[in-house]
Amino acid sequence: MSDKLFIFDTTLRDGEQVPGCQLNTVEKIQVAKSLELLGVDVIEAGFPVSSPGDFNSIIEISKAVTWPTICALTRAVQRDIDVAVESLQYAKRKRIHTGIGTSDSHIKYKFNSNREEIIERAVASVKYAKRFVEDVEFYAEDAGRTDNVYLAQVLEAVIKAGATVVNIPDTTGYCLPDEYGAKIKYLMENVRGIEKAILSTHCHNDLGMATANTISGVLNGARQVEVTINGIGERAGNTALEEIAMILKSHKEIKIETNINTQKIYPTSRMVSSLMNMPVQPNKAIVGRNAFAHSSGIHQDGVLKNLETYEIINPNDVGIDDSSIVLTARSGRAALKHRLSVLGVEPSTEKLDQIYEQFLKIADRKKDINDDDILVLAGADRSINHRIKLDYLQVTSGVGVRSVASLGLKISGEKFEAAAGGNGPVDAAIKALKKIINRHMVLKEFTIQALSRGSDDMGKVHMQVEYDNQIYYGFGANTDIIAASVEAYIDCINKFAGVEK
Ligand code: KIV
Ligand code: ZN
Repeated sequence: MSDKLFIFDTTLRDGEQVPGCQLNTVEKIQVAKSLELLGVDVIEAGFPVSSPGDFNSIIEISKAVTWPTICALTRAVQRDIDVAVESLQYAKRKRIHTGIGTSDSHIKYKFNSNREEIIERAVASVKYAKRFVEDVEFYAEDAGRTDNVYLAQVLEAVIKAGATVVNIPDTTGYCLPDEYGAKIKYLMENVRGIEKAILSTHCHNDLGMATANTISGVLNGARQVEVTINGIGERAGNTALEEIAMILKSHKEIKIETNINTQKIYPTSRMVSSLMNMPVQPNKAIVGRNAFAHSSGIHQDGVLKNLETYEIINPNDVGIDDSSIVLTARSGRAALKHRLSVLGVEPSTEKLDQIYEQFLKIADRKKDINDDDILVLAGADRSINHRIKLDYLQVTSGVGVRSVASLGLKISGEKFEAAAGGNGPVDAAIKALKKIINRHMVLKEFTIQALSRGSDDMGKVHMQVEYDNQIYYGFGANTDIIAASVEAYIDCINKFAGVEK
């Protein structure tokens, strides 16, 4: 059996489905180009029938990317496949990923159908997709809870119909590693024609077993893994690409190779986290802030004597370099451009000018500008087309006094002002904001995070605001945490102000 493992990245499809993580087409192209540099084999670029945004992104990603196969997701429905074919017209290598639920509960409750009919629909969709593209992947949704004997029948039928890859999703993240591995082994041994297709894993992390299940699948014969950067994805997420790549690199005895250039892992992780406004937990394996920080005295002593004592991965191997905090107010445009490029961002000259202008403003307030700050700045022009912008904000607060805020907004260029008191500075500022934007809005979630460690660091704020029975997600980043909070609230308002008549 081949010792090459294909890396199928679904950050832009399963990952991007996460509420609040949506990217625009320009941002998706940026991620896709980074994935190409990282060395992934397949980029699942979206579910084109689901929205014009997904459709256009697949068109543009197909034009922007050369080596990886571009994949579009469909249901086992002809119209989905037609739209996918159109979206893939510019892809140099293309794949359609079609499929249907195969577990008894999906068959009964989702499709009100029976096992025989599901096989017919699966075969029909693969045959239909084959009319347009050579490379057709079939997914058996909820395969993790599908009876193995029936699953083998489904796979045999779709491989006969022309499927080149067969995907075994543990959609609910329920399987145990042994159970998932045994499933792959069973399929390898019992599906007639399996040698004509590649078996793929697709694991979710609901019980924290996505990576273990994926590795178990690989050890039992799977030769494609479906993964995302930072493990982002529906609910508790998908298998993290960086974990699989580093497990295989560290455990040489497994003797399975990938095309991943591991030194690109860290920059890609930072970029995805920043563009998707999705913080990486500090203790996340491989890419978390603390993943290589030895804090206990015993560990520090050992590492100083010899790195091998406690370090199984060299941080340089995943692209973490010690010069990550280097920029200051004296750094020029060239230094900023270089740092952005290390982080995987290649701005146009005009965009670089905008970032540099913002950079100088932050550098006035903050001594060292770190990678997180820079990535936030690189994404800062997301507010450029906003109708509502913060003009100024002044807040008085302290112990034993009531907080008071006065705030100015520009709405389509026109100025509005208001002042209000509150039980804290954020409360006062938001009350003043609501005096101008007179709508029934309810703050549902409010997270503040310092970007790194110092008291002069940028704070990031994530918010969810409910308006008209819908949740809107907003983000703000500023060295002033009250300003970041107000910016995040305004970001939410702009989202519904953009769709309101
Ligand atoms: O988790 C899942 O079952 C999926 C399929 C659509 C591949 O994401
Ligand atoms: Zn999934």
